[in-house]
Amino acid sequence: MKASSLAAMAVGLNRVAMGEEAADVVLKNCRLVNVYSREVIPQAQVSILKDRIAYVGMDAGHTVGKGTAVVDLEGKYVTPGFADPHIHMDQYVLPSEFAKQSLLCGTTSLFSDPIDIVSVCGFRGFREFARLTDSLPIRIFHMVPGGLPVDRMFSHARNLSKAEREKALKMDRVLGLGEVFSWTKVTGRDPATMQSIRHVIGNGGIVNGHTAGASDKKLNAYIASGIFSCHEPIDYDQTVERLRLGMWVMMREGSIRRDLERIVPEIISRGTGLDRLMFCSDGVTPNDLLEFGLIDNCVRKAVSLGMGLVDAITIASRNCFEYYNMGRDLGGIAPGKLADILVFDNVEELRPDKVFVGGRLVVAHKRIVSAVGKKSPAVWIGRTVKARGRFIGGDFAVKGRGDKAAVNLMRLETEIITKKDWGELHVREGNIRASRDDDVWKVAAIDRTFGSKRRCVGFLKNFGADIGAFGTTQSFHENDMIVIGSDEEEMALVANELVRMQGGMAVSRGGKIISRFEMPVAGLISRDPLEEAARKFGTVDEALIESGCRHAQPHLIPLFLPFLALPEVRILYSGVIDVKSRAFLPVLADKDIKRGN
Ligand SMILES: [Fe+2]
Repeated sequence: MKASSLAAMAVGLNRVAMGEEAADVVLKNCRLVNVYSREVIPQAQVSILKDRIAYVGMDAGHTVGKGTAVVDLEGKYVTPGFADPHIHMDQYVLPSEFAKQSLLCGTTSLFSDPIDIVSVCGFRGFREFARLTDSLPIRIFHMVPGGLPVDRMFSHARNLSKAEREKALKMDRVLGLGEVFSWTKVTGRDPATMQSIRHVIGNGGIVNGHTAGASDKKLNAYIASGIFSCHEPIDYDQTVERLRLGMWVMMREGSIRRDLERIVPEIISRGTGLDRLMFCSDGVTPNDLLEFGLIDNCVRKAVSLGMGLVDAITIASRNCFEYYNMGRDLGGIAPGKLADILVFDNVEELRPDKVFVGGRLVVAHKRIVSAVGKKSPAVWIGRTVKARGRFIGGDFAVKGRGDKAAVNLMRLETEIITKKDWGELHVREGNIRASRDDDVWKVAAIDRTFGSKRRCVGFLKNFGADIGAFGTTQSFHENDMIVIGSDEEEMALVANELVRMQGGMAVSRGGKIISRFEMPVAGLISRDPLEEAARKFGTVDEALIESGCRHAQPHLIPLFLPFLALPEVRILYSGVIDVKSRAFLPVLADKDIKRGN
């Protein structure tokens, strides 16, 4: 949504506040949550002209004219719209679907980091994603992905060139660089990384951080380089360490991690300053968005952990805009601000009855009442899963000699963390086979971005699901096609299904696809309505769990298998990678060395 400029509106707002011109809308009988004075004003009135607030006080009668719509809010709680300062929304559903549910949850501003669409489609994808968001009745701001390439030595994802990045930074509502993970690129002063940070901060932009595991001198060096936020603290100590160094901390509660429980209670008991805290989701699945909500979920959770409601609402609104240097325009209900306002029947439930964005009523009676224009994605972005011909079982063979072969294994500790391991597997007709008895599965990473059909087939332990195969085209942040399977023919079946659907997730058993979720937009995003996407997505995890998967969220396994910023072994189409030694790990193990002989 476009916003007026305060400079252009200032005289008109001044006149309304003085009672010399009529407001468009007056909200009366508001129990107003004031995030500046941190109090609830029991009887407030708010006057709105176009998309901005002109007056807040006890009696807005002098701003009412013939054409003014006066809305009696009957003593309901009225708060500023919530904001998610760091979210990856280039996944699962189209921005129009995400926006509707986000508004129903009271999150009126989203700060998007479209890292995956860029990793698949480059600058073209960044522009297309921005286009899909630009006329929605919600505020969506964009960060240019700052985390690519994850590892310059191994990553093969698309990225923006220097010229493209500079072009992107000049686009509307683009605020700076998204999370610069792999903080060692900053502490090691990687020239390209430092150049991009310098360029952004030199032009008044913001750079978002990612400092998992950094402390003391390395953390200082990272912050001193111009990066003032982090959403990675997982407990109070990491949070306060960053606050002490002047950082802003985005406390995360989303589908990948839920950190509030280990941060908020100590924040309260120690009286830690709240002014540099925000809530963020870092991305949510369609199912979690429907079940838990977004920033409203963070506010509810923080309150349930003992935080005062007004403090939690301040963290959910004002703090985020102050971090992004937008506090003049957004973050609270006060004269001059854009009129992003939530009205709650029930402040414990925290699902808004009404939502105004820029003074426009977009939610009433907990339903969307504003047109949400659904732009169609460009045709080209529905054709990104490239393959040379059909896959056959032989594509997933791993050559071995004799009856048995020793192989290196990626052992799943959790859905996300892997350990290096090894095992012995049977060889049949020159092909090393997976072993259901030993819970060892084949795992393939396949290039689907450039259509080279380059692939690596390795072995995965501790997966557990007794299926034919499970595959996806969504994987952080290389977006290789990942296929896990017990049988080569089934792996080919799933790989072909993913190509046919042009992206998504699929599970096979007994030579049949038993669950599928199509995500044909960049191989990352469904065209389905949110509820339908959630239903299909849910069937994928259900199929895997019912088949005996050892993990509660099986879809996370292939999502993270290529993610080079996490320990200990990862797989890309170029090979299996030992993250610690930063070297390729052969699929075949040296048995004698592994046995310590
Ligand atoms: Fe993130």
